[in-house]
Amino acid sequence: MIVRFIQLLVFVQLVRGDYHWPSPLIDQLEGLLYEGKQEGLPDRVVDLLAQLNGCIPQDNNGSTAAEWIRFAYHDMATHNIDDGTGGLDNSINVGGDLEAAMFDFIDFPNKYLFYSDVTAIGVVLATVGCGGPVVALRGGRIDASSAGPPGVPTPDQSLDDFIESFRKQGFTQEEMIALVACGHTVGGVHNPDFPTLVPPGNIQFEDNIVLFDGTPQFDNAIVTQYLDGTTDDLLVIGANGNSTLSSDLRVFSSDGNVTMQSLASPENFASTCATLLGRMIDTVPSNVTLTDGIQPLPVKVAGVQLAPGQDDTLVLNLTLRLLSNTARQVTLHWADRDSTTCASGTCSASPTNSALVTTPLVGALGLSPIKYTFSTPIADTSIGTFWFEVDGQVENNGGSGYAIEQDRVLFVPGRSTLGASFTIVAAVRNDSVPSRVYINPYQRDTIVIRTASVNLTLDASIPPAAGYNFYSGSVFAQDFTFDLFAEIDGMIYEEEFRDTHWIPSEFS
Ligand code: HEM
Ligand SMILES: *[C@@H]1O[C@H](CO)[C@@H](O)[C@H](O)[C@H]1NC(C)=O
Ligand SMILES: *[C@@H]1O[C@H](CO)[C@@H](O)[C@H](O)[C@H]1NC(C)=O
Ligand SMILES: *[C@@H]1O[C@H](CO)[C@@H](O)[C@H](O)[C@H]1NC(C)=O
Ligand SMILES: *[C@@H]1O[C@H](CO)[C@@H](O)[C@H](O)[C@H]1NC(C)=O
Ligand SMILES: *[C@@H]1O[C@H](CO)[C@@H](O)[C@H](O)[C@H]1NC(C)=O
Ligand SMILES: *[C@@H]1O[C@H](CO)[C@@H](O)[C@H](O)[C@H]1NC(C)=O
Ligand SMILES: *[C@@H]1O[C@H](CO)[C@@H](O)[C@H](O)[C@H]1NC(C)=O
Repeated sequence: MIVRFIQLLVFVQLVRGDYHWPSPLIDQLEGLLYEGKQEGLPDRVVDLLAQLNGCIPQDNNGSTAAEWIRFAYHDMATHNIDDGTGGLDNSINVGGDLEAAMFDFIDFPNKYLFYSDVTAIGVVLATVGCGGPVVALRGGRIDASSAGPPGVPTPDQSLDDFIESFRKQGFTQEEMIALVACGHTVGGVHNPDFPTLVPPGNIQFEDNIVLFDGTPQFDNAIVTQYLDGTTDDLLVIGANGNSTLSSDLRVFSSDGNVTMQSLASPENFASTCATLLGRMIDTVPSNVTLTDGIQPLPVKVAGVQLAPGQDDTLVLNLTLRLLSNTARQVTLHWADRDSTTCASGTCSASPTNSALVTTPLVGALGLSPIKYTFSTPIADTSIGTFWFEVDGQVENNGGSGYAIEQDRVLFVPGRSTLGASFTIVAAVRNDSVPSRVYINPYQRDTIVIRTASVNLTLDASIPPAAGYNFYSGSVFAQDFTFDLFAEIDGMIYEEEFRDTHWIPSEFS
């Protein structure tokens, strides 16, 4: 309890920072971290936490907390402190179970958010989801374009090899002992991978896993059972008296058990693991600069979309998330673009919906966030800025309001369709004829790359509405994000991809 309280104080102090909406990378990281989801993600991947599936030890075809933690360690293990190369950069070359962990993250990378940041979030969510401490997250990892050198220790190696591997990764011998204990408090050894250690038929869980410490939770049973001689950790006790694969024994006992004894305190175990797992995910190539810690935003705006609706009006959609659910009156206000009808915020709307955000991480931080959904028709003109009033207090993005920079060209998610291909519909104001309407797609393979522009053409099958004409174009339905452009009278107008409500999915 005391540990939690101190954590919370530190958090609240750091909360405001220099944040200003929109900050696409921060916004996406914050959403995935604290809510486990992003606005409007396709159904199959609505929720990163749903893929994690709690802290269940069964191998549900690759969504266990243990696999996410191990996956991140393996990716990071390529770091070489001597020349600054490698680290958490998606250069992992994996097979087997870890491929499944990789697949869990596959829908999330986009123009702003790289795979390796999602991998890092996976460690934070898996740790706290198993009852472990809150690991701090920074963002801005950059994916490597090719696989890194193999760097992962194997259990048959010598103690000297382990010490050298961890030194290269940036950890002392004591830190190595603690980090291995922090990793091996979850998950276990799998029969398909180590049949000599886990004989077939020795089934504790699906996939023949023998847990390292008998508990699926992130706790220090891995330490206490080791010290009192009751451990089931196959990397300590070996098989049939053969200690070749007893890597945990070699590591844990390498300083005469001093470090393990210090970790017998649950508080020390939790704080040591929070620090070391944080350093593990922050181990990146030396030419990558990470952001500050991603704190929960007190006022979080997401999923902002202005577009012609079905009945000849413009519609504004967005969500507002607050960190506590105590507000009684929450109102959206806006000023129209030419400041005539809605000049002084006289135009307003109430939420259409609200839902509590309950994730292990916000629970551990003592927060009870609530998310309001707004979907409001806009009268005759368009919106220039919007802001909120929460129980009489104005929330206006630090003074400037939340700006809708332009309304000449707008993506229309409600009319875009996903089938064998993705048909993108854009609305262009009917007071001029654009010389070109197009998208620049960012496609995801192993990394996210910009690909060739695709033109959209006037679509006569969609009747003009709300002062807009509609343009459409079809793109092969691979996972990608895009920015939308219109050239009008020699000017280029852009609606930029920002958050994931624009992402189609080949799986939905
Ligand atoms: C000397 C260094 C290490 C060695 C030799 C080692 C070895 C192993 C082995 C042999 C397994 C069983 C894998 C399987 O059956 O498929 C395993 C599992 C695991 N390792 Fe390590 N490991 C080391 C360090 C670490 C570190 C530093 C972490 C993370 C902080 C970590 C996290 C995990 C996790 C979470 C699992 C369980 C995976 C699951 O149940 O699916 N390991 N490790
Ligand atoms: C998991 O894998 C097994 C064996 O490959 C398969 O029979 C089962 O349907 C899979 N379960 C899920 C939830 O995908
Ligand atoms: C001990 O285990 C290792 C790794 O599985 C194996 O290579 C070795 O032959 C075994 N030694 C004995 C004496 O069984
Ligand atoms: C460390 O602890 C292990 C497990 O209890 C024990 O087998 C070993 O003898 C201890 N080593 C030392 C140097 O105390
Ligand atoms: C960092 O350096 C590596 C190796 O020289 C290079 O491949 C990579 O593109 C660089 N990354 C950045 C973000 O500069
Ligand atoms: C607003 O949200 C509603 C409900 O999800 C959806 O049907 C509609 O297409 C959205 N409109 C815009 C402009 O995004
Ligand atoms: C898209 O439109 C531009 C301008 O009209 C044209 O120059 C370009 O060739 C078109 N691209 C494709 C792929 O058709
Ligand atoms: C543009 O749309 C508005 C509103 O639907 C309509 O009144 C106007 O006639 C349209 N202008 C043109 C040039 O089509």
